[in-house]
Amino acid sequence: MIQSYNLKVDIPQKNAYSYDILIGCNLLDSVDELVNKYSFANKFLIVTNEKVAGLYKDKIAIDKANWLVLPDGEEYKNFETLKLILDAAVKNKLERKDCIVAFGGGVVGDMAGFAAATYMRGCDFIQIPTTLLAQVDSSVGGKVAVNHEDGKNLIGAFYQPKAVIADINVLKTLDLRQLKTGLSEILKYALIEKSCAAPLNYRLYDFLIQHKQDIFDLNPEVMSKLVHICCALKASVVNQDETEKGLRAILNLGHTYAHAIESLTNYTTYTHGEAVGVGLKMALNLALIRGLIDKGYFEQAINLIDEYQIAPKIPKLDKEEFYNVMFLDKKAKNGKIRFVVPNGMYSVAIVSDISKEQVMESISTCL
Ligand SMILES: NC(=O)c1ccc[n+]([C@@H]2O[C@H](COP(=O)([O-])OP(=O)(O)OC[C@H]3O[C@@H](n4cnc5c(N)ncnc54)[C@H](O)[C@@H]3O)[C@@H](O)[C@H]2O)c1
Ligand SMILES: [Zn+2]
Repeated sequence: MIQSYNLKVDIPQKNAYSYDILIGCNLLDSVDELVNKYSFANKFLIVTNEKVAGLYKDKIAIDKANWLVLPDGEEYKNFETLKLILDAAVKNKLERKDCIVAFGGGVVGDMAGFAAATYMRGCDFIQIPTTLLAQVDSSVGGKVAVNHEDGKNLIGAFYQPKAVIADINVLKTLDLRQLKTGLSEILKYALIEKSCAAPLNYRLYDFLIQHKQDIFDLNPEVMSKLVHICCALKASVVNQDETEKGLRAILNLGHTYAHAIESLTNYTTYTHGEAVGVGLKMALNLALIRGLIDKGYFEQAINLIDEYQIAPKIPKLDKEEFYNVMFLDKKAKNGKIRFVVPNGMYSVAIVSDISKEQVMESISTCL
């Protein structure tokens, strides 16, 4: 019998709001019981996309549920699709205590969550994440959004679900590239673990070294534990800083670089995870240049990234352009880029006094 995990997320800022994240195998078999445990809804609206519906519609048996199947792709994460969800909620006469269920990856989760946040000023919302990225990252923490033509996730809210149900079995149908997208965020957690101030010492970094093959084989025991550790780390950060006033920024390790790579290649060449993989290397470079970490840790961490093959070779991007795009990143405050930089084993600091030369050097070693 493979262990399943039940993790509590507590948001003290929100009148001690708390919810459960369930992680394990075969959770979908009891999905009707679970959603009814966490929501007193009379009706459920299950929001998914064509791909996930094609693979798993038969596995989800929820009484009193209607389905809305959206087209698949980040390009549909917009107002038009959001309206389709809200229209379906109106058409199905959902009431405030009724529940929108997001069944899919981060795109479905973010959009369905935003619809739930705004429908009748907030109806119930449950996440059933189906990609590794969604299970370890996007379904935890309550950020929901749609894209605007001028920026990703520009329009959104903080809206926490009633529960998250992460069934490890669904990861089997992900292709390797999608799996690696999740793995990039997981390696990121390993590099920030100490700064998450989690109640337990999970030693994620060592876990990743020990279980690499099991992870690529999707060993259910190992994957359940891995997803649990990552959710626990993210939850610990979110518990302390729900709305990114401070600590939550550490989750952006590698992301200032990654956003520049994605933007310079029009979001078409690399997955988010591939850009993050390269961004993690650049952040480690910066840390070494600044003397914040020693060569031993630097080499070990770069090796781990290479072993997981999450950072592809990127063609020569123009360094000047790269730097300018980084400055446009929404995390640049008062014209200064705030970098999350490793400052010791598994820990990071937020610094803003980094010179242009140092940034350029950190980029160029990866180009
Ligand atoms: N809210 C947050 O805190 C947060 C954090 C990180 C990322 N995000 C958002 O998440 C999105 C990316 O999420 P994603 O990587 O899950 O992308 P995605 O939702 O587009 O899913 C990736 C692909 O996998 C398919 N898929 C989903 N589940 C599958 C399964 N079990 N088997 C086979 N294929 C499956 C999808 O249909 C899609 O084609 C972005 O829009 C990003 O902005 C949000
Ligand atoms: Zn990310």
